[in-house]
Amino acid sequence: MRVLVLGSGGREHALIRSLAQDPQVTALHCAPGNVGTSAVADNHVLDPTDPVAVVELAQRLGTRLVVIGPELPLVNGVADAVRRAGLLCFGPDRAAAQIEGSKAFAKEVMAEAGVPTAAARVCKDTDEVRAALDEFGPPYVVKDDGLAAGKGVVVTVDREHAERHADDCDRVVIEEYLEGPEVSLFALTDGTTVVPLLPAQDYKRAYDGDEGPNTGGMGAYTPLPWAPPGLVDEVVSTIIQPTVDELRRRETPYVGVLYAGLVLTPEGVRVIEFNARFGDPETQVVLDRLATPLGGLLEACAIGGLGSVAPLEWRPGAAVTVVVAAENYPGTPVTDDPIAGVEEAETVEGAYVLHAGTKLHKGLPVTAGGRVLSVVGTGPDIAAARATAYAAAERIRLRGSHYRTDIAAEMPR
Ligand code: AMP
Ligand code: GLY
Repeated sequence: MRVLVLGSGGREHALIRSLAQDPQVTALHCAPGNVGTSAVADNHVLDPTDPVAVVELAQRLGTRLVVIGPELPLVNGVADAVRRAGLLCFGPDRAAAQIEGSKAFAKEVMAEAGVPTAAARVCKDTDEVRAALDEFGPPYVVKDDGLAAGKGVVVTVDREHAERHADDCDRVVIEEYLEGPEVSLFALTDGTTVVPLLPAQDYKRAYDGDEGPNTGGMGAYTPLPWAPPGLVDEVVSTIIQPTVDELRRRETPYVGVLYAGLVLTPEGVRVIEFNARFGDPETQVVLDRLATPLGGLLEACAIGGLGSVAPLEWRPGAAVTVVVAAENYPGTPVTDDPIAGVEEAETVEGAYVLHAGTKLHKGLPVTAGGRVLSVVGTGPDIAAARATAYAAAERIRLRGSHYRTDIAAEMPR
């Protein structure tokens, strides 16, 4: 099977790395990819949000399956175009991808499906914003309705900051604050059958101790030794399956991976957001643990055959990933800085390095984005995996870079 993966982040390098281990996958292409994907796949220069260009490339390469990594191509209708051209696609059509593309749409689907989520008000003007902030009280949760790469959300006790962020948003959603540990759960689906992956925890704030602005994600680990037993089954039956069923009922079936961002509140599990794709960097650790060949699974989603796939197999032990970010991330990152130490990092037993914002300059890797590398450590338990990840991350040499030192350090109780 020939596979084309769209995207250029750490998630896509993780997908490519797993797909390369699947004997069914005979050719691997990535567009546009990064320095890491080019080591295992053929990279192609291409705008992954351009449906015509994607279909043209996929056909020219004799692709059977197109796997869409990031949200922008999905929201732009790339999956629709790929399917229309008669190719298999892992990733939802534009209409179903609105579950991520519009927070207001996601709230509507959840209400219809009876899925527990934070109470929210969609506001059109300043008066409505003020009324909603008064209604919910601090801490204030203010979200841009559209896509914002994880940076459109402000959670603050500062009323002025909340109002300022609301002013900056096109259409704004004000939400009830949810208290409790966060969990990311990804579920594969062919539009009908749902197969959950391992739950993971992500660190969204830029700095140690959950300080600083929100980012796309600075680190992650899996599994969650502290998670209540039965959590995954409960989330599938009360959240994911009803959402997938509701999207099918609307005649916009959802094919791909549905990412539920959850808070375990004292009153029960609540959804904070859905994403229409694999989360980054949680994917880096979740796929590390998956022993079932990935290509066959993604293909089963695309052909509507997930119901006949054998139960997933997982490697024992744990994985932790630490994201090495460029100077000034999550602000506009400094690019074109040389990256050294990747090979040394990979001499640490149980560690490897996935690329995110990297490109070649005169044959050497340089930075090309905010999140530069995702250093993965594995081991028999979280503590061992964490020690391995940090032993490897220390060997990366990148001027001005920063990473969190507290990934997987403390677990919720
Ligand atoms: P999102 O982009 O919706 O995932 O939001 C980014 C981060 O903001 C989440 O991972 C949470 O840490 C935080 N957040 C979002 N919504 C809420 C909420 N209703 N209550 C508490 N924290 C939230
Ligand atoms: N890890 C957060 C995200 O992918 O949105």
